[in-house]
Amino acid sequence: MRENDLLDPGQPWYRIRKSSGLTRQVTRVFYQLMKIAVIGASGTIGKAITLLLRKQGHEVVEGSRSTQPPIDIDQPGSIDKFYEETGPIDAVVCAAGNAAFGALDSLTDDQFQLCINSKLMGQINLVRKGLSRLNPGGAFILTGGIFAYKPWPQTSAIAMVNAGLEGFVKAAALDLEAKFRLLIVHPPLVKETATQMKMDDSPWPAAAQVAEVYAAAVTGNETGKPVFLNGYNP
Ligand SMILES: NC(=O)c1ccc[n+]([C@@H]2O[C@H](COP(=O)([O-])OP(=O)(O)OC[C@H]3O[C@@H](n4cnc5c(N)ncnc54)[C@H](OP(=O)(O)O)[C@@H]3O)[C@@H](O)[C@H]2O)c1
Repeated sequence: MRENDLLDPGQPWYRIRKSSGLTRQVTRVFYQLMKIAVIGASGTIGKAITLLLRKQGHEVVEGSRSTQPPIDIDQPGSIDKFYEETGPIDAVVCAAGNAAFGALDSLTDDQFQLCINSKLMGQINLVRKGLSRLNPGGAFILTGGIFAYKPWPQTSAIAMVNAGLEGFVKAAALDLEAKFRLLIVHPPLVKETATQMKMDDSPWPAAAQVAEVYAAAVTGNETGKPVFLNGYNP
C-alpha cells in the first residue's frame, strides 16, 4: 500500500479508511503526510514538484505572484501576508527567484541587485519569516543551481547567489538545531528549459526527475547541506 492510496477514492484502501471512520487529518498525521507550500508552483520545476508531492498524498499550497493567496518573495511584506493566509504548514519548498544572465562587463547594478533581492534574499526571507510559522520539525527546501559549482560564462551573478544561498543554508541550519530542517537543492539545467532555450536537451534531466530530489529532501531527515541530482553532482 502506498500512502496516497488512503486518499485516492479509486483505491480499496480509501474505502477501508472511510468505513473505519479515519478522518483525512488523522490519516495525514498517521502516514506523516504534510501540508507543504510550494513557491514557484507554476514554473518548470515547481509544477513538477507540486504534481509529485500531491501524488504522494501531501496537501500542497501553491504560491507565486499569481496565486491566491499571492506571494512575491522580492517583497518581505508579501511573504508575511502569505504565511498569515496559509496558516501553519509543515514545509516550504521554494522553486522561485529571479536572477540575471550576462557577461561580467555587461551586468548592470540593477541586475546584480535583482539577483540579491529576489533569488537570494527572497529565499532567505522565506526562511526567516517562516521560523514563527512552520510547525516544529518542519523543513525549508531552497533552490540554488549547479552554477555555484560548475559555472558557465555569463553566469557570475547567478553563481554568486547560488553559492551565497548554500553558505546561508549551512550556517543557518546550525542555529535551527533540531527545530527545523534546511536544505538547498542545486538542480542542473532542466530538459524543458534547455528545449525552451533551443539547446541540445539530451544531456539534461526532466523536471519530473528533479522533483524527486525535492520530494526526498522534504520527507528525509538531512539538514544544512546541498543536495544534488544523482549523476549531476559537482
Ligand atoms: N529551469 C532550470 O533549468 C533551472 C536550473 C537550475 C536552477 N534553476 C532555478 O530554479 C528556480 C525555478 O526555475 P524555473 O525554471 O522552474 O522557473 P520558471 O519556470 O521561470 O518559474 C518560476 C516560478 O516562480 C514564480 N515566481 C517568479 N518570480 C517570483 C517572485 N518574485 N515571487 C514568487 N514567485 C515568483 C513564477 O510564477 P509568477 O510569475 O506567477 O510569480 C513561477 O511559478 C529558479 O530559481 C532558477 O534559477 C532552474
